[in-house]
Amino acid sequence: MNANVTLRNALDGDLDRLLAEVQAGAGQDLSVAETLPAAAYTSEAFFELEKQRIFRREWLAIGHIAQLQKAGDYFTIDILGEPLMAVRGPDRIRVMSRTCLHRWAPVASGSGNTKLFSCPFHRWGYGLDGQLKVAPFMDKAEGFDPKACSLPEIRSEIVLGTIYINFSGDAPPLAPRLKGMIEEFAHIDIDDLIVGFSMEFNCPFNWKIAVETFMECYHHIGAHAKTLQPHSPGELSWGEDMHEPDQGWVCLRHPLREDVPTEFVHKSGLPSFEGMTEEQERIGSLYHVFPLNLIGTSADAVRWTTILPLSANRTWWIRHFLVRKDARDMPNFDELMQTMKTNGAVIAEEDVEVNTLQQIGAYSSYAKAGRLSHLEKPVWQLADYVRERMARPA
Ligand SMILES: [Fe+2]
Repeated sequence: MNANVTLRNALDGDLDRLLAEVQAGAGQDLSVAETLPAAAYTSEAFFELEKQRIFRREWLAIGHIAQLQKAGDYFTIDILGEPLMAVRGPDRIRVMSRTCLHRWAPVASGSGNTKLFSCPFHRWGYGLDGQLKVAPFMDKAEGFDPKACSLPEIRSEIVLGTIYINFSGDAPPLAPRLKGMIEEFAHIDIDDLIVGFSMEFNCPFNWKIAVETFMECYHHIGAHAKTLQPHSPGELSWGEDMHEPDQGWVCLRHPLREDVPTEFVHKSGLPSFEGMTEEQERIGSLYHVFPLNLIGTSADAVRWTTILPLSANRTWWIRHFLVRKDARDMPNFDELMQTMKTNGAVIAEEDVEVNTLQQIGAYSSYAKAGRLSHLEKPVWQLADYVRERMARPA
């Protein structure tokens, strides 16, 4: 047996052992539950399997319709090594590969508004529906039919304004799996939202770490001791149970401390969502749409996030801060968004700092599965989701 085969067999053995360890935690009640094994956050082999069994098969959030207000608006995103773009055409929104059909250069970058996606390499041009419209000097290419050339479209579904894609093409429709969450968003007019500001972070840690930290407030006591804990103490938070069959989402509630006045949630002066009771205004909600979409709602804003896994220990984190369209009428709107972006970055950096430390610790040979607090229900729910998806047949 050559050295490569021996190494591969040893690594396969490691992966089999890790998968067995992951499944050993299945069916635990939260009161006795542990985290997934640390190696589930560091193993590249485990990450490759997550790509096949989770990310290629599930609905992945790539953006929000607030980014595509008018026909011709587009944004680009790279996910699982696929350069994609979402485009609002005159008829509908499409998500397409943006790799040129000629010699593969991406035909768009960043975001903007256009009528034609013109490849910077040889100027092949594509319409908003992906149809090839321009192909210079191809008249002597025998049998070449530009009309038969279209950028491949990726299956997409829009739920609550979020644009989700499914690479395998056979995931069951997402909306029925988000039924209860859709009901909770009844007071928010999704078509009325605009992007106040956006932020991106290059995170040196596993995608599950990014999700878990968004979805629990237990860590306010440490990472956000001076910023969030004073008005939103983690010990008051609770995770909701799951009630629907194959429920595609979970939720954590985080109320204001009892003696903080309700005016606190209106301090930005942004127009609030209508029809909320005072109690609803005092309780923020954090939603996780499995596997990568994180949404926080408050009285006047939606903090929309997607997590793009790059490798076992690298994750790209994109946040859009969504507010009501009429917020733009505020005389100090731009200044306010800049201030909120600066403040939001402070909190996000507090998370990135502890999560970076956590990933370093996860590589330790002494890092074992740790016990969970009752405040970490979404962490337990994610672990169960990962166990269930990873156990599905190839
Ligand atoms: Fe945090």
